[in-house]
Amino acid sequence: MSTVTQDDTTVRSTAAPEPVMTGRGLVKRYGHVTAINGADFDLYPGEVLAIVGDNGAGKSSLIKALTGAVTPDEGTITLDGKEVRFHSPLEARREGIETVYQTLAVAPALDIASNLFLGREQRREGLLGRLRLLDKKKMRTAARDELNSLGIATIQDITQPVETLSGGQRQAVAVARAAMFGSKVVIMDEPTAALGVRETAQVLELIRRISGRGLPVVLISHDMPAVFEVSDRIHVHRLGRRAGVVDPKQVSMSDVVSFITGAEQIPANADITNVAPRSTGHGGAS
Ligand SMILES: Nc1ncnc2c1ncn2[C@@H]1O[C@H](COP(=O)(O)OP(=O)(O)O)[C@@H](O)[C@H]1O
Ligand SMILES: [Mg+2]
Repeated sequence: MSTVTQDDTTVRSTAAPEPVMTGRGLVKRYGHVTAINGADFDLYPGEVLAIVGDNGAGKSSLIKALTGAVTPDEGTITLDGKEVRFHSPLEARREGIETVYQTLAVAPALDIASNLFLGREQRREGLLGRLRLLDKKKMRTAARDELNSLGIATIQDITQPVETLSGGQRQAVAVARAAMFGSKVVIMDEPTAALGVRETAQVLELIRRISGRGLPVVLISHDMPAVFEVSDRIHVHRLGRRAGVVDPKQVSMSDVVSFITGAEQIPANADITNVAPRSTGHGGAS
């Protein structure tokens, strides 16, 4: 459709991908607090988009608006070019949008396979299924396959209760679950906040693998080294809206910190808000 941006010196190649998901002019007020204040958002196929910003900048609120956890007062959201309006997280999940929160939605007493299929249990075929008997074998096989394909090697026993796993392993289960059922978008809100160095590295590796499959990942994080290691583009969120988008290969961590605090404006020549990522996904990196 639009091959030329407002600035007609920037001609996008006709092969430039259309965004998978967009938000335009989103607003959400809580009484006197405006948590989202005219925010825009663009997510391209297969990219890892980091969202960074100060506490209270409205990052989580933006994600909630995109995933049906809150309904914005104003603005529009599109998925695959069509306007969507989610009234609950379930509606967003049905459209292929999976979210991993910092506070994990896992059931500690259940085993790994049951956690992966939580809310989506597979029934046995035929009469046994109609009697609501679960197909545990099928779920365990699928769970094992998913963990293997994501390279989660540290979990050996799929029948282990999740409460016996380390924090990083639990987070891996939550991420695997999102990767398994998220067909369009995987969103992670501070997934490494409670993790150690090694566990964080594992979650970053999972993010790479998921985007390597062509599934875009949104990563909200305060961890600058992690953001610079794994993201294709960095969306800077400030005062309830997107201040701009920068390329981690073109700006430094201290630049980004200045953009977050507002100590510096994002220079026009560093702002890639209207530029689709050149190559998406991390298929080459492994
Ligand atoms: N349910 C709510 N009720 C009232 N205020 C809220 C609610 N959720 C978020 N806020 C406020 O909106 C602002 C943005 O919060 P949040 O989206 O959590 O920011 P971030 O994730 O960037 O730290 C904050 O001022 C916060 O206190
Ligand atoms: Mg938050």
